[in-house]
Amino acid sequence: GQASEKPPLKIYLAGPRGFCAGVERAIDIVDLALQKYGAPVYVRHEIVHNRYVVEQLEAKGAVFVEDLNEAPADKPIIFSAHGVPKVVPAEADRREMFYIDATCPLVSKVHREAERQHKNGNTVILIGHDGHPEVEGTIGQLPEGAIKLVQDPEEVWQLEVEDPERLAFVTQTTLSLDDTMDVINALRERFPTISAPKQEDICYATTNRQHAVKALADKVETMVVVGAPNSSNSMRLVEVAKKQGCDSFMVQRAEQMDWSRLNGVRTIGVTAGASAPELLVDEVIAACREHFDVSVEEVRVTQEDVQFKLPRALADAAA
Ligand code: F3S
Repeated sequence: GQASEKPPLKIYLAGPRGFCAGVERAIDIVDLALQKYGAPVYVRHEIVHNRYVVEQLEAKGAVFVEDLNEAPADKPIIFSAHGVPKVVPAEADRREMFYIDATCPLVSKVHREAERQHKNGNTVILIGHDGHPEVEGTIGQLPEGAIKLVQDPEEVWQLEVEDPERLAFVTQTTLSLDDTMDVINALRERFPTISAPKQEDICYATTNRQHAVKALADKVETMVVVGAPNSSNSMRLVEVAKKQGCDSFMVQRAEQMDWSRLNGVRTIGVTAGASAPELLVDEVIAACREHFDVSVEEVRVTQEDVQFKLPRALADAAA
């Protein structure tokens, strides 16, 4: 046979990677709603932060809007996996809209924790990224001003609170485990009696994907993260790899691959954010095969078997 002209490239696939149970459920909700109620079905915000997923659903008749006002009152509307402030379902009720909530149950858990702490008379501190829809949704569970957002240890030191003895914190579900630990340590140092969530708010999927990237970071020269810049957990995967001293970049699709960054590189890691379909990982690997003589090996740090129930309105459509 002929010797291949292409340089060799070993691809280590991070496991787990890609879709989490909350994303699968949210996409299923839109699909089933389209089947049950027919197009168009409206969705408030990108159902999950992935353009490809959104475009696939648009092709089936989903219409994405940022604000409830952009949707007619007589069509079903779905709230995205990131969660919504309480004013959103309240407004939908006022307009007598039929809505289905695709908020991930692990985000709802944080909402209830924030409410519980508020009821107990504690000021709630939310660790998260300003402007992310999940953060807006969590802040919007309580009356205005009841939740204080901190993004890093510096903001902890600047925080002004009424009663330093009556504090609790919750976090966004998709944060960096290490960076969040730094913020929590600062909170505990400044407010030793602060209440922590009973169970970690950073979700299992975020945790496992970061662990998987860490396990690969020492093995590979470059880490390719399939995901989107507005996907918090995907952005964190790029950061985690970089922190481990591994060159890392994100692509949404294979066409975005910057091949100059793989010049002379012999080993890469590939992972995907929780909202990125496996199909896009396959696409990136296929593109690599055009440039390299590729071999693929998966390095799995743990198995996942989490599954969430569908909302009642759609349970029959699924059966
Ligand atoms: Fe839920 Fe975590 Fe996925 S909060 S949507 S399981 S990334």
